[in-house]
Amino acid sequence: MYKSIVKQQIPFLDLRGQHQQIKAQVFEAFDQVYENTAFSGGYFVEKFENKFAEFCHTEFAIGVNNGTSALQLAIIALGIGPGDEVIVPANTFIATAWGVSYAGATPVFVDCTSDTWQIDPSKIEEKITSRTKAIIGVHLYGQPFNLEAIDEICKNHNLFMIEDAAQAQGANYKNIPVGGFGEMACFSFYPGKNLGACGEAGGITTNNENYYNALKSLRNHGCVERYYHDEVGYNMRMGGLEAASLNVKLNYLPVWNQRRKEIAAEYRKGVVNPHIRIQAQPVWADSIYHLFVIVTENREDLMSYLNDHNIFPGMHYPVPCHLQKAYKNLGYKKGDCPNAEYLAEHCLSLPMYAELSDENVDYIIDVLNAYNHG
Ligand SMILES: Cc1ncc(COP(=O)(O)O)c(C=O)c1O
Repeated sequence: MYKSIVKQQIPFLDLRGQHQQIKAQVFEAFDQVYENTAFSGGYFVEKFENKFAEFCHTEFAIGVNNGTSALQLAIIALGIGPGDEVIVPANTFIATAWGVSYAGATPVFVDCTSDTWQIDPSKIEEKITSRTKAIIGVHLYGQPFNLEAIDEICKNHNLFMIEDAAQAQGANYKNIPVGGFGEMACFSFYPGKNLGACGEAGGITTNNENYYNALKSLRNHGCVERYYHDEVGYNMRMGGLEAASLNVKLNYLPVWNQRRKEIAAEYRKGVVNPHIRIQAQPVWADSIYHLFVIVTENREDLMSYLNDHNIFPGMHYPVPCHLQKAYKNLGYKKGDCPNAEYLAEHCLSLPMYAELSDENVDYIIDVLNAYNHG
C-alpha cells in the first residue's frame, strides 16, 4: 500500500499554480506597459535587462525574442559563419544546433558522459579541426556543465566558449551563477522554463562591451541610429509585455528554484530502486532542476506503469541531435554517440515544478519504489 494515494493526474509540468499566485501583479505590470504603449523594446525590456544582468553577476544582458534567436545572434556576433564548425553536445534540445545552422556554420556533435549526461570533455578534442571556431556547452536540465574542462580546451585551441543556459537561470558552478563564464550565455524564457515569460522571450548575457553593442545592433535591424543600417540585421527584439512579466517573475525565481531543489533532494533520497538511475551531480554543480531526468531499462513499461498510477512524465529527448532527420545530410549514424543514444531510448522526466505538493512528491517516490517489472 502507498503511504499516500493521489487521485488527480500529476503531469510532468503544470504552470497554473505559479500563474494564479502572481496573476494580480503580472496584470498590474501589463497595465503599465499598456499605459506607456511600450510594446516592443523600451523601458520594461531595459529594466529586465538590468535586473537579469545583476542576477547573473554579468556586466550586460540583452533581451531578445526567444532562446533560439539568442544562440543565432551569439554565433553571428562572434563572426562565425559558412565554412566554420561549432562543437555541440548530441544530447540537448535541437535549438542549441539551430543557432549554428542559421548562421550558415556546421554543428559537430559530441557524445555526453554516461552519468552526468552532459557533453564529455574527453571526446571533444578528436572532433576539433582547422575549421572549428567555438564550443557550445549546455547547462542541461538546469545543471552546469564542466565549465573549467571546456574552458581549458577552448583556451588550448583558441576557440570561443558559449554557454547554452536556456534551462539554467540561477544555477551555480562552484557558487558562481552561470551566464558569465563563456564569451556569451544564451537564455530561453519560454513559458515552461524556470524563469518563463508570459509569451516567447530569450536573452544573452556577456561581460564584453563589444559583443553587447554588436548584439544590440543585430537584434534591431542592424542599426544603432534609427533608419541607418550599418549591417544586415534582424528583428529579434523582446516584447514589452514579456519583459513586464519577467520583471515580476524574476523576484520569485530564487524561491521557486529552491523549492525545485528540495523536491529533487527528496527524489534523490527517496527513490531507491535498482531499475531506476538518476543523473549524477558533480560536487561543483548546483542544479536548479529544470528537469529531473531518470533512466530505466524498459522505458515503455515504466511509462505505462506510471500512467496507470496517474503520473505523467516527460521525455527529454527521444532522438539525439545527430540522428535527427534535419541533420541527415551531415552523415551521422547510430553508434556515433552511444551514451546520448542510450539516454534517448531510456530517459523519462519526473514531474518537477515548484508548486508540486509534498504529498504528490511522496506519492511519486512510493510508486517508483514499488515498480518491479524491470
Ligand atoms: C537547451 C536549450 N537551448 C535552446 C532553447 C531554445 O529556446 P527557445 O525555445 O526560447 O527558442 C531551449 C528551449 O526551448 C533549450 O532547452
